[in-house]
Amino acid sequence: MRIMIREFHDINLRDRNSFRVAQRAAHLVEFDTADDLRQLFAAGVPARWTVLAGGNNILFTEDYDGLLLTPAARGIEPIAERDGTVLVRVDAGVEWDDLVAWAVDRELWGLENLSLIPGKAGAAPVQNIGAYGCEAKDAIERVRLYDVATGEERTLEASECGFGYRESVFKHDLRGRVVITAIEVRLSRTPQPKLGYGDVEREVEARGGATLRNIREAICAIRRTKLPDPAVLGNAGSFFKNPVVARAAAEALQARWPGMPLYPAADPDKAKLAAGWLIDKAGLKGHAEGRVGVHERQALVLVNRGGATGGEVIAFARKVQAAVRDRFGIDIDTEVNIL
Ligand code: EPU
Repeated sequence: MRIMIREFHDINLRDRNSFRVAQRAAHLVEFDTADDLRQLFAAGVPARWTVLAGGNNILFTEDYDGLLLTPAARGIEPIAERDGTVLVRVDAGVEWDDLVAWAVDRELWGLENLSLIPGKAGAAPVQNIGAYGCEAKDAIERVRLYDVATGEERTLEASECGFGYRESVFKHDLRGRVVITAIEVRLSRTPQPKLGYGDVEREVEARGGATLRNIREAICAIRRTKLPDPAVLGNAGSFFKNPVVARAAAEALQARWPGMPLYPAADPDKAKLAAGWLIDKAGLKGHAEGRVGVHERQALVLVNRGGATGGEVIAFARKVQAAVRDRFGIDIDTEVNIL
């Protein structure tokens, strides 16, 4: 059997993480299939390994002395169609936004609000990526994975993935146990525009109405005005999660801080606060210390202003958390995976 892996030793990770920190990894393997992984692990599983997909939601705070696995396969293949619903198999190494563009080009609905999210398709289920009122879980039908302990390929149905706000079983029970090799997404030929979030409707109307192409363009435009391009300014998108707190506590805060945004949470007794607003109102938007800063246009995003180490970023992040705790009594957790 042909193994399609590419191996690197003592490799600089700067071009493999969107924060652009220059930490090193002892060993990195790019793989295509579960067979590649089976052969790679045939002689034993290394003591320390993890998946590094696009590196868009990860912060290396030190050199990594283990094995990093990077999915490389990039196939997108429709596998079934019924009653206007199309099931598409997507290899883990596909750029997420290439998948969204692929769907929009074919007039298939379901992913357009998730336009321009950096990262690979195989990483999408891990934190259940989301934006503008949609989450990956709304489209993911099942996840294909390689089980490191057994060497078998397995399939998890969406209902088994433990999806929640920036949550899944892959961050918990299955962490360090499986490698996602592909996802299957369910797309629709029937228009189903979701325009309820923020400026989306206005931006879509300005482009002439709710076509797939207009929605994609509107979302891309909104993201470009708020979020820094990692190719220009190192960052990992939202550094923190929006905190979910008891509804009563959220309402008490809102009474004290009129104008504070409040969103419904999955649990009706809870509410989601906007961490970006909290950081902003703690006076930190645009604040920088040395080579790290809070982005000027979206306070939820921390940026590498050039040459920062992962250690500098995390030290700065701790200060941001402390400032929000001091001002509002709210703890904000990191969304980014800290290694
Ligand atoms: N806000 C401020 N100041 C700021 C940032 C935000 O006042 O500096 C306010 C906004 O005015 C708005 C509210 O906070 O009232 C929410 O802001 P926004 O709509 O920009 O969204 P967010 O909650 O900050 C989340 C996601 C983003 C996603 C946007 C749009 C998380 C952790 N982040 O951000 O996802 O693009 O919604 O749906 O849930 C990511 O995960 O990397 C990411 C970029």
